[in-house]
Amino acid sequence: MTFFSKRLLAWYRENKRELPWRETKDPYRIWVSEIILQQTRVSQGYEYYCRFTERFPDVYALAAADEDEMMKYWQGLGYYSRARNLHTAARSIVDNGGFPKTYKEVRALKGVGDYTAAAICSFAFGLPCAVVDGNVYRVLSRWLGIDIPIDTAAGKKYFASVADELLDKSQPGLYNQAIMDFGALQCVPASPSCVSCPLADSCVALQKGLVGNLPMKQHKTKISERFFYYIYVHSEKVAFIRKRNGEDIWRNLYEFPLIEAGKELEDNELFSLPDWDRLFDGCTVERISLIEKRVKHVLSHRIIYATCYDVTINNGDKLAGDYREVMIADLHKFPVSRLISRFFSIILKPNKRKLCH
Ligand code: ADE
Repeated sequence: MTFFSKRLLAWYRENKRELPWRETKDPYRIWVSEIILQQTRVSQGYEYYCRFTERFPDVYALAAADEDEMMKYWQGLGYYSRARNLHTAARSIVDNGGFPKTYKEVRALKGVGDYTAAAICSFAFGLPCAVVDGNVYRVLSRWLGIDIPIDTAAGKKYFASVADELLDKSQPGLYNQAIMDFGALQCVPASPSCVSCPLADSCVALQKGLVGNLPMKQHKTKISERFFYYIYVHSEKVAFIRKRNGEDIWRNLYEFPLIEAGKELEDNELFSLPDWDRLFDGCTVERISLIEKRVKHVLSHRIIYATCYDVTINNGDKLAGDYREVMIADLHKFPVSRLISRFFSIILKPNKRKLCH
């Protein structure tokens, strides 16, 4: 065992987190946990993992599930393509006779990249595959003082080879868990506690005063702004929703009629748009009120400013287009984004709304 692995595993024995997906060798459960944890913190993913695996305890249950129901179990977690890919991959696993057992086959599953394939193969099958995630980039770049940007092809290749070299091949699963927890708990992005670090005496970044600069990135993520105007259109008992499609965010989740604008709009500007008229073509609008104005919803690459109106139409009127007419009492049964779920909860407590005109 190398010096690095010895120190790391000693730290892990003292500091490891007890997590349900660490108590199993079932590749299905490990796969589900890794997909959840791809873009979600452990503290948030924990409950989702428990509920998801309770309802879908094996790959056969997931493959047989209805997509809308499965999406309900993902609701609020974000990055919904993860759930759609999980479902598609579950069906292909069942079609192929069971969970794959080699790195190459696991890596070929929809939604599984290098990191996730290495995690599944090392944790479930004990294969010598090194994981390289954000935690690992941080630990290795600091301990070895590597300043090659991690968001370049050369950087990715270099870190993959370093990670492979350092991997403890006699216990790859344990080592991988240890280095990820070490990055998540000890070698944290901002203000790590280097005085209590078991690798401080050999950490190049600490010696050179570079801890705050590593890992290096070439490009900063660009953030774009979008302006969403949701319209909760309903009569006494029914409301209108539709399933999002196309390549945009929240595909296959439901939402209220939406008008997206290129800039922030005043109420009157919105109500005089052609899209507004088209939406209500053939309907009698009885009343418009505001549910919530300019909610800032931050995603990884965009900020959405969302306003939601409540529009009452005559009983029996219908919206043209691909809207579904559903009972208001059934709205909560549909999988929706966190933003729409927030509006749902206000709609169920309607005392705080303002009349627009
Ligand atoms: N983040 C991603 N995978 C993880 C795991 N298996 N344990 C803890 N955090 C993780």
